[in-house]
Amino acid sequence: MERMGSDSIAILPAAPVAVRNRDVEYKYRQCSDFLYLTGFVESQSIAVFIPERPEGEFILFCRSKDAEKEKWDGFLYGQAGAVEVFGADQAYPVEVFEKSLSGLMQGKEKVYYDLGAVPAYDQTIIGVLNQLRAKVRSGVVGPQAVYSLACLIHEMRLIKSSQELDLMARAAEISAVAHIKAMQACRQFSYEYQLEALLQYEFAFQGASSVAYPSIVGGGANACVLHYIDNRARLQPGELVLIDAGAEYQHYAADITRTFPVSGTFSAEQKALYELVLQAQSAAIEQVRPGRTWDQPDVIAVRVLTEGLVDLNLLQGSVETLIEEKAYKSFYMHRTGHWLGLDVHDVGTYKVKGQWRTLEPGMVLTVEPGLYIAPDCETVDPCWRGIGIRIEDDVVVTEGAPRVLTEKVPKTVETIETLMR
Ligand code: GLY
Ligand code: MN
Ligand code: MN
Repeated sequence: MERMGSDSIAILPAAPVAVRNRDVEYKYRQCSDFLYLTGFVESQSIAVFIPERPEGEFILFCRSKDAEKEKWDGFLYGQAGAVEVFGADQAYPVEVFEKSLSGLMQGKEKVYYDLGAVPAYDQTIIGVLNQLRAKVRSGVVGPQAVYSLACLIHEMRLIKSSQELDLMARAAEISAVAHIKAMQACRQFSYEYQLEALLQYEFAFQGASSVAYPSIVGGGANACVLHYIDNRARLQPGELVLIDAGAEYQHYAADITRTFPVSGTFSAEQKALYELVLQAQSAAIEQVRPGRTWDQPDVIAVRVLTEGLVDLNLLQGSVETLIEEKAYKSFYMHRTGHWLGLDVHDVGTYKVKGQWRTLEPGMVLTVEPGLYIAPDCETVDPCWRGIGIRIEDDVVVTEGAPRVLTEKVPKTVETIETLMR
């Protein structure tokens, strides 16, 4: 509210319920911005913030208690709960939102509301704005401009509090244990989906409510398909398997990738490429320090990968020219990381006024370089084709050295082979 300034109102609807098929809904997941500001996980809610309003600055519209409904669908906090448990100054039944809005908006200069985020509310908000504008001749003053609320919230979400970091550490810990178990069990499995099943079980068993995103389990050349989530193929001895999977714990995401040999031992080519990716990842993690800029981990990863690709004769030419011409893009086509938080690809801008952002303590990001040699890549010796590798960890910017939340999962050739034995 400090950032909004006086004479303003912010309106933030909860996430809409999504239908899966016919009368079956997806398990409800609250909108991350709504959750960040309210902690309230019920659907059909709207939060309103009005700085310096004497009757109360934080108003929550939510479902009313209803003994009969609650017998079927479970507990509701109701308006009393919204005030007592969630600290709303006032709470009203969600049914009166629309008719309350004009009174709440009247006299405010600025509306903070994200048009298009929950389209079902757009017409209501625009309708009330128009009503107020139509009354201008009777002296009514209505808002003149609609501003992005997301921009304010996302700047705040970018810097995690210590309580948030504790939850993120727990999400990382749960995910790390699951990855370790997947490595240990892999030799007994025949299909990618069996590894996925094990991960899901471990996440859920440890108290995570969901995966943070659909798990990627890609054996062999499937690892070269960056968003491979089919996970139906047979695991082949002699190939690698790439697992990119993370749990969501109390709405906070983890995001881990490990790549390891299906039968427990790396071949010479797999090892050479793997160690190159690992070297790039270690160098990139070293850059996650306050005062460095967002692109520095990426720049160093690209340099290490390009040098290594030249050494292995997968690329030919001068390293400087190859970097300049982005020759590495044939084998490394994504960036080295992203913000992580309530959303796996978390909010927050990467550039400020055209410049890469400077890292600050409390920011959390992934570091995830990879190499993907397509099975039909004719520019390289056949021995390299169909190998896909990524190594991904979750890293907190601290006052000093990078804090790797996911460091428990082995990632050297030796520690992986030992664990699998
Ligand atoms: N799992 C999504 C990503 O690594 O960005
Ligand atoms: Mn990631
Ligand atoms: Mn990932």
